[in-house]
Amino acid sequence: MRIFGKKGASEFSASSTAEQVTRGVDGTGLTAIVTGASSGIGVETVRVLALRGVHVVMAVRNMDAGANVKEAILKKVSNAKIDVMELDLSSMASVRKFAAEYNSKCLPLNILINNAGVMVGKFKLSQDNIELDFATNHLGHFLLTNLLLENMKQTSRNSNIEGRIVNVSSLGHRYTYREGIRFDLINDKSRFNNYVAYAESKLANILHANELTRRLKEERVEITANSLHPGTIHTNIVRNDIRLKCLLKLVRLIFLSKTIQQGAATTCFLALNPQVKGVSGEYYVDCNIAKPRSKANDPDLAKRLWDFSLSLTDLK
Ligand SMILES: NC(=O)c1ccc[n+]([C@@H]2O[C@H](COP(=O)([O-])OP(=O)(O)OC[C@H]3O[C@@H](n4cnc5c(N)ncnc54)[C@H](OP(=O)(O)O)[C@@H]3O)[C@@H](O)[C@H]2O)c1
Repeated sequence: MRIFGKKGASEFSASSTAEQVTRGVDGTGLTAIVTGASSGIGVETVRVLALRGVHVVMAVRNMDAGANVKEAILKKVSNAKIDVMELDLSSMASVRKFAAEYNSKCLPLNILINNAGVMVGKFKLSQDNIELDFATNHLGHFLLTNLLLENMKQTSRNSNIEGRIVNVSSLGHRYTYREGIRFDLINDKSRFNNYVAYAESKLANILHANELTRRLKEERVEITANSLHPGTIHTNIVRNDIRLKCLLKLVRLIFLSKTIQQGAATTCFLALNPQVKGVSGEYYVDCNIAKPRSKANDPDLAKRLWDFSLSLTDLK
């Protein structure tokens, strides 16, 4: 584990905040989508991007919660440019509706932050009959990214500004099967383990960014895709797991957890900091490049996940 205040190559550390890692960056003219913007790390991400002048579209499943967050941010950042749009990542119909509405508004898209996440805690299927952690954390974001990619490519071509895709993963990606992802077991209730289900979806977030990188480089498109672990932060993510809730409280007691402001730092760094220009297919912790488990950098697994996700989402 990194020592809390110890700076890495980026000159930032676990104690850096989202405001600190974006200081001096002018995001005016950029447009970003942040998923899961109604709670936790997503809220602070929206606030800091808006503070830097970015037009932020909050993608939320609860429109009332989204409107409250928007109002609270506007009280602190009076000139913030924020819209709220409905998106339920666990429903492919909702993802398709969101993307169609977004694209029909002719809004450009420079930055896509795939932040939303759930730790479901027990075996549940999505509306599309896919295990809910995998459906929400990976598949919804996979479909969303694909449906917005043409817009991002156009935006980057028209503006000559690099597009950025940021996948919020987790250190938890390490705790899956030895093979990484067991595609045959994803919907198998009899073999379900709630921690492994979450971990597989978080491993998928890294593999998704890596395979995107390979494809975008092949196409010579000016869009990067990176993934990150935000740190350990007391948020609603553990709402369904009393044991983890207690563990996080304990961690907080011994001062190892981050504040929300610190928890949003790596996301905002990857979205805006000029140091990251041209960097793609990397995994970041505390605003510095880190090493995920070896399976996360397995190109064959990334390709299998891509094909598996394509077949589940009926994309070509
Ligand atoms: N906190 C940590 O220690 C930690 C550590 C490692 C990784 N992470 C990752 O960080 C990201 C943000 O989590 P957080 O800690 O900020 O947790 P959080 O406070 O629970 O926020 C999660 C966000 O995701 C949204 N969401 C959940 N299911 C959704 C769905 N089906 N459709 C659309 N949005 C949905 C939630 O919306 P509602 O408010 O409507 O539920 C909420 O806005 C997650 O990807 C998580 O895996 C967190």
